[in-house]
Amino acid sequence: MNQQKTFLVFGATGQTGQHFTALALKQGHKVRAVVRNAGKLAITHPDLAVHPGAVPGVANLDELLQDTDFVVCMLGDAQMQKQQKVNTAFVHELVPAMRRAGVSRFLYQAGGLSKPPGSKLSLPFRIIKGTVARSFIGQHEDNESVMEYLTHEAGDIEWMVHRAGIGSNGPSKGTLKRSSTAFSIGTFEDVAAYNLHTVMDPSAIHTCDLSTYRQP
Ligand SMILES: NC(=O)c1ccc[n+]([C@@H]2O[C@H](COP(=O)([O-])OP(=O)(O)OC[C@H]3O[C@@H](n4cnc5c(N)ncnc54)[C@H](OP(=O)(O)O)[C@@H]3O)[C@@H](O)[C@H]2O)c1
Repeated sequence: MNQQKTFLVFGATGQTGQHFTALALKQGHKVRAVVRNAGKLAITHPDLAVHPGAVPGVANLDELLQDTDFVVCMLGDAQMQKQQKVNTAFVHELVPAMRRAGVSRFLYQAGGLSKPPGSKLSLPFRIIKGTVARSFIGQHEDNESVMEYLTHEAGDIEWMVHRAGIGSNGPSKGTLKRSSTAFSIGTFEDVAAYNLHTVMDPSAIHTCDLSTYRQP
């Protein structure tokens, strides 16, 4: 078994977050889940602590970060993000709190169609983003703003962004690997497993990579 670590998880009631939480607990880790609706979290476990809270404005962030090893954010509310950049506002609160608590490692889940700073999306991605995925534009703009902030104002934090592609809640299709160019449409379970593995991987620090089932 791996050495037991403590994860502070945002979005644990979501489609990726539920798998992430279950997997981290299965691997013997502790999870502190900040949730706005505890009834949606199907899991109970002695190593799972559930804390009520909505972002931004989590009241006891400093306390929650005490003795935390890794922070993982799988938040999303496409409707709300059409109106305001809630994740950006949250990450602006989180990063200073991480500094205060001496916690450095942070994985943020964005989407493959969210453009990292200083880069350009491929033409097919730009077309998809402007057409079939148009309703998620607020979410992508919020994710892009988070990546801008992390890149330009949080170089001291060991952050990493997973620009995930997710297609279904079906069974595992294999192991997703990090890639700056290759992209696969994963299952929520595989994306969660990728997040768990990647947040513990120092080589992923300060990357905004995609994930793929393809072998390198
Ligand atoms: N779904 C996809 O196909 C897809 C594809 C690529 C990338 N992504 C990226 O991955 C992220 C997560 O995706 P997902 O599908 O796993 O998300 P999801 O199922 O929609 O879950 C989002 C999670 O965020 C929580 N949340 C939203 N707003 C909150 C707030 N203000 N305060 C506290 N909790 C809040 C939700 O809580 P409740 O349970 O209370 O609603 C839920 O736990 C998305 O934001 C997106 O950027 C998603």
